[in-house]
Amino acid sequence: MAIIERTPSGVPGFDKLIEGGFPMGNTILLSGSCGTGKSIFGMQFVYSGAKTYSEPGVYITLEQKPEDVIKVMKNFGWDVDNLLKNKKLIVTKPKKDSYEALKECIFSSINEIKAKRLVVDSLVLLGMYFKDEIENRKGIRDLHLYIRELNCTTLAVSDIKERSELYSVSGLSEFIVDGVVVLRIISKETGGGHTRALFVRKMRGTDHSLDIFPMKIGNTGVEVFPNLRIFEQEYHQ
Ligand SMILES: Nc1ncnc2c1ncn2[C@@H]1O[C@H](COP(=O)(O)OP(=O)(O)OP(=O)(O)O)[C@@H](O)[C@H]1O
Ligand SMILES: [Mg+2]
Repeated sequence: MAIIERTPSGVPGFDKLIEGGFPMGNTILLSGSCGTGKSIFGMQFVYSGAKTYSEPGVYITLEQKPEDVIKVMKNFGWDVDNLLKNKKLIVTKPKKDSYEALKECIFSSINEIKAKRLVVDSLVLLGMYFKDEIENRKGIRDLHLYIRELNCTTLAVSDIKERSELYSVSGLSEFIVDGVVVLRIISKETGGGHTRALFVRKMRGTDHSLDIFPMKIGNTGVEVFPNLRIFEQEYHQ
C-alpha cells in the first residue's frame, strides 16, 4: 500500500494529475476568479464522496443559501435527496457571521454524520470576522489547525482576482494549506474564444505536473482532460 492514502476527487480525469487523488486528511485551496467553477468542483467532491466512496461530506456555504446549493447539485442530475435524508451529506451555513459560528458549524456538521470530506465556500468573508490584519492572519492559521484535527479531506474555496499573483485574499492561506488547485478561464490568443482550465500549483507529497489542462462543466458536472494540455503561449492572461 502506498504510504500516502488518496481520496478520489470525484472529478473525472482530475485524479490522474495527482497520483490518484488528494492526500487523505489534507486541506486543499481551490482558487480561482469568479465563475471558474470552484463551487461546482467542491459540490462534486462532497457529492461523489457520499455517493460513491462511502465518505460522508459536509458543504458549508458562507455566500449562497444552502437551498440554492442543493438546487445546483440537483440540476446536474445528482441524487442528493437520498444522501441528505440518510445523513451522508450536509449542506449548511453558519448560524451567524462570526468566526466562532463558522467553527461551531464545521465541528457540529462533521460530528453529526461522521464526515470524511469538507468544503468551505468560501474563505473570502473570513477577513470580515477579524478586527485587523494580525487577527486575520492568526484566524486563518487557527482555522487550518482546527480543520486538520478533524481528519477530513478539505477543499477551501478561495476567490481571487483574475491574473492575481496570489492564490488567496490574505496571501497567506496558500502557504499554510497542503495543496493549491487553480481554476481559470483563459482566452485564446488568436481566433477568439475562451476555455476553462485548471492546474495544480501545489500538492504536498505528490508528483504532479504544473501544466494547464482543459476543464469542462457539462450536464453532469465537472470534467478534466489530463491528456490535453494547454500551451500557454497560445493564450493570453
Ligand atoms: N449545468 C451547467 N452546465 C454547464 N455549465 C454550467 C452549469 N451550471 C453552471 N455552469 C457554469 O458554471 C459557472 C458557475 O460555476 P461556479 O458557481 O462553480 O463558479 P465559482 O467559481 O464558484 O464562482 P463564484 O466565484 O462567483 O462563486 C457558471 O457561470 C456557468 O458558466
Ligand atoms: Mg462559488
